[in-house]
Amino acid sequence: MKFLTLSCLVLLGFSLTVAQPKSAAAVDAKVRSLMKSMTLEEKIGQMTQVDYEAIKNTPQDIVKFGLGSILWGGNSEIVDLSPKGWADCYDSLQGLSERTRLKVPILFGIDAVHGHNNVIGAVVFPHNIGLGAANDAALMEKVAMVTAKEMKGTGIHWAFAPCVAVARNERWGRTYESFGEEPELVRAMGTAHVKGLQGADLAAKTSALACVKHFVGDGGTTNGKDQGNTEVDLATLRSVHMPAYKDAIDAGALSVMASYNSWNGNKMHGNRYLLTDVLKGELKFQGFVVSDWNGIDQLSPNYKYAVEQSINAGMDMVMITSPRGNFNSYDVFTSTLKQLVKEKAVSMARIDDAVRRILKAKVMMGLFENRYTDRALLAEVGSASHREVARAAVRQSLVLMKNDTGILPLSKNVKRLIIAGKGADDIGMQCGGWTIDWQGKVGPVTTGGTTILQAVKQAVSSGTVVKYSADGSGADSGDVAVVVVGEQPYAEFMGDKADLSLSPEDVAVVEKLRARKAQVVVVLLSGRPMIVTPVLEKSAAFVAAWLPGTEGQGVADVLFGDHAPTGKLPHSWPRTMQQVPINVGDKEYDPLFPFGFGLTYAAAKAVK
Ligand code: BGC
Ligand code: BGC
Repeated sequence: MKFLTLSCLVLLGFSLTVAQPKSAAAVDAKVRSLMKSMTLEEKIGQMTQVDYEAIKNTPQDIVKFGLGSILWGGNSEIVDLSPKGWADCYDSLQGLSERTRLKVPILFGIDAVHGHNNVIGAVVFPHNIGLGAANDAALMEKVAMVTAKEMKGTGIHWAFAPCVAVARNERWGRTYESFGEEPELVRAMGTAHVKGLQGADLAAKTSALACVKHFVGDGGTTNGKDQGNTEVDLATLRSVHMPAYKDAIDAGALSVMASYNSWNGNKMHGNRYLLTDVLKGELKFQGFVVSDWNGIDQLSPNYKYAVEQSINAGMDMVMITSPRGNFNSYDVFTSTLKQLVKEKAVSMARIDDAVRRILKAKVMMGLFENRYTDRALLAEVGSASHREVARAAVRQSLVLMKNDTGILPLSKNVKRLIIAGKGADDIGMQCGGWTIDWQGKVGPVTTGGTTILQAVKQAVSSGTVVKYSADGSGADSGDVAVVVVGEQPYAEFMGDKADLSLSPEDVAVVEKLRARKAQVVVVLLSGRPMIVTPVLEKSAAFVAAWLPGTEGQGVADVLFGDHAPTGKLPHSWPRTMQQVPINVGDKEYDPLFPFGFGLTYAAAKAVK
């Protein structure tokens, strides 16, 4: 039977090798033959990744240095941010790889961390914290599959995702990049994410390479300080922060990004024990390790020593960025590493190991055969069916925390509905950081999509008057008001906060509505739990919507009962800042809402 099917395919003119992942032997053979003819300079070129904006002479330097990889950082802009603009830029840069002696394709990386979020018109999904609340591996896989497809529509094939941080302190500005505070949840979502991005075959036209980050302990720093010091013992590092890596590697992840953080005072970028002995040895990681944005520059003011320490620790590819600032540029990196090899401070075996790992990924991705954008995928970027997947992700990510009076779900036939709060009509605030810009931006210009206000207007019947008032004025007694409040966009260390209270302005909106005797439903847009007690007490219902992204209809689906809430808290919800950090399993555990809490409509009581 099998034979018949195969021979039919052959008769029909299908090449069997296209449909099947490359065999390990074939991959090795290709890598070996390439490496045999490579010079030291070419090898070091493969280990060099440069930010698009940091390339001093384009196109000359890309060819001259034989750059192995180019990335677009959160703020590296190209001229035309449309899908076609990105595809054109990608193809022209990739074309330069054919001008090098061995024509090794360049690997292009981008922070597609909640959809292909640097592209205007791409679907923006909920940030990971929301997907952790949804806790649905099949959904997670689908989200990542759509992301990979949209990436490939622009040619770009390497996502710096998933972030499998286990965020243990909500002060951390990257809490939303983590699926939650508990390792099992992170494991399940991280694995599904890798599978969705990479597909069954990395060489498939819709697959993208995953980059599991940031190894290791990024979510465990003292006081939740970004790039800080993770002061835990080895057993905790292994049981809390490491399990998701093992799973991702077993699921086939071929790249890992090292973390900025230190472990008990030692920076991860120079940690040979963890990068080599544990990650590559114990966890049997066969892919390559990339450094974070200028990460090795932080190791020592003596750059030569920093390079030596990091490469010998097991760093395979080095992310190099702008010569603005005090960072060393790629010409300095390449000459420094070459000198270190000459002096035998870095062995040729270490260089070969790094290059073998990088080339292996490139071969497995099928880049040698297909290096340019498949333009047939371009039309799918931001398509209606992709937006449907995001909408489903949004409605599954919402956590209903209070509904005492049973005010939710709202009737679509209510006469008058007040929509208030600064987040009600703001795509930028819905999306959060890492959306077009590194830090994200408030306002309508960010990208396409549907705001919560627009979604509510679409959902209600034609007889309903929807009155929008950002500051909550104009309500009458008995009105139902949906108030959308929360955090302004931020990313990374810019989001580290000592105080997670709602802003006075947000509290004032709710108070104003209550003074007019309106019934208030609060929808919180935030990258983490916040201190909400004063507002919670005054509201009839409270929904944590995290950072849902472009598809506001998912919020309306829950508000009007087309979907009963199913999301569960991926974090313990603190009563006060004094309680932070608070995590499930703590000896003393008295949160406002426990990890895993979430109401639904049927009985309006906690379902676990
Ligand atoms: C972040 C990474 C990101 C990289 C590239 C770094 O600052 O820590 O998460 O992938 O920049 O933009
Ligand atoms: C870049 C980001 C990067 C950050 C690190 C920004 O300028 O655009 O990609 O993660 O710097 O500090």
